Order: sequence, then structure tokens, then C-alpha cells
Amino acid sequence: MSEQYDPIAGLYTNAQKEFFQGKLDPARGFIYTHLPRQNDVQILDLGCGAGTDVESLLNLGYQNVKGIDSSAEQIALAQSQSSRHECFNVGSFEATGMPDKSVDLIVCRYSLFHVRNLDAAYTEMARILRPGGKLIIADSNPKADALEDREDTPDGPRISYALYDGKVKVHKPLHTQEEFLSETFLKFFKVDETAEFQSPDRISRSSAIPVGMAITAIRKGE
Ligand SMILES: C[S@@+](CC[C@H](N)C(=O)[O-])C[C@H]1O[C@@H](n2cnc3c(N)ncnc32)[C@H](O)[C@@H]1O
Repeated sequence: MSEQYDPIAGLYTNAQKEFFQGKLDPARGFIYTHLPRQNDVQILDLGCGAGTDVESLLNLGYQNVKGIDSSAEQIALAQSQSSRHECFNVGSFEATGMPDKSVDLIVCRYSLFHVRNLDAAYTEMARILRPGGKLIIADSNPKADALEDREDTPDGPRISYALYDGKVKVHKPLHTQEEFLSETFLKFFKVDETAEFQSPDRISRSSAIPVGMAITAIRKGE
């Protein structure tokens, strides 16, 4: 999916920034209300894009924050906008390059949904999270996605939509709720909290079905 964001790294970041000026972003709202109290924990933003949340977390006083994204252009943009180049690396949900049990908190805002094989991402996240570590996912709601027009591709079904007043067009694999909370997920993680939310960035096909969903989960094990 990095090929999707390489050409639009700047467009995506600017359109998002402009769009949310003065507006509530429920996905970020959820993530930021579930942050740990201690500021010395290792936090990883997976699919960090141009680093908006990494910078915010650093500004909040968290000392150990990393951002990983599979798009080299997004990471280059993140580094060009930050004084903390060392915080950003190219990597993926499937291969982060982080050591085993080295992370206390993984956050992912609208990035996991791009991964076709969610179980591969869960296995990697379980490897790098320490037991008791936390995962916060804020993402597209599979129930709302199911209402979109699907397109069948050799890799599986996908959907497309436009964000930020139509300025940014994205496509993503069509996932079911069962894929998000798969057997593999439940083998590694204990669900702590789930939520659904409407968001101003995407027009819902049904006002009854929120476009966003969020999960917090704890890495099982000793
Ligand atoms: C919609 S953007 C979200 C970026 C950022 N989290 C934010 O909230 O603005 C999705 C990001 O996920 C990244 N991405 C897609 N597939 C990925 C993968 N397999 N591993 C890591 N990052 C991925 C893209 O390059 C892109 O930067």
C-alpha cells in the first residue's frame, strides 16, 4: 500500500491538517484519551504517515516515541518536518524491524485497514509488544465499509473513497469485523474496550452506521 501514499504524502498531510482545523477528530480523540500516564514508555505509531501523532506525543512529553510507515515518502516528509529524525523509520506492519517485547504501546490511526492480511500484522505486533503492553487501533468501521461499492481484485475485494472534502482518494482492502477480531487477534490480545464513532472526514452511506471504530487491547502472556 505504500505505493498509494508515496505520490500523495504531502497532499494527504496538508489536506488532513486543513480539514481538521477547528474540528474534532474522533479517531485522535479516542487514541489520546487512552494514553498511559508514565512518559518513559516505548510508544510506536505504526503507519505513522508524515508523523503528526509522533510529534504530538513528543510534545505531550513522551520521551520514547517511534513512527514507522511503509511509504518512504511519508517517512521522508516526517523527517523533514521534525527535529527528531531518529524517531522515524521505513518499515511495515508485517515487518517492523523492532526487537521482541520492546514496545509498551502501539497506536495505529487509519493505517491497519490498509493491510490485506491482518493476522500477519497481529503476529508482528504481538512479537514486539511486551506482555501487558497495549494496542490502540482507530480505524475504518467494517460495517460502514460493507456499504461501499466493492471492486474485486486478484488480491481480494477492495473499496475506494474520498476524504477531506474529496481532496484525497484512497483505496483499501474490504475487511470484515471477524477479520479484525480474528482467532489470531484473540490468541494474542485481550480486548479492553471497543467504540464506534462518526467522523466528519468521511460521508457515511448510512447515518445509522458510524464510519469509525476503535479497539484497545492488551498483549496476553507473562
Ligand atoms: C490513511 S494514512 C494514515 C497516516 C497516519 N496514521 C495518520 O493518521 O495521518 C495510512 C498510512 O498507512 C501506511 N501504510 C499502509 N500500509 C502499510 C503497511 N503495510 N505497513 C506500514 N504502513 C502502512 C501508508 O503509507 C500511510 O502513510
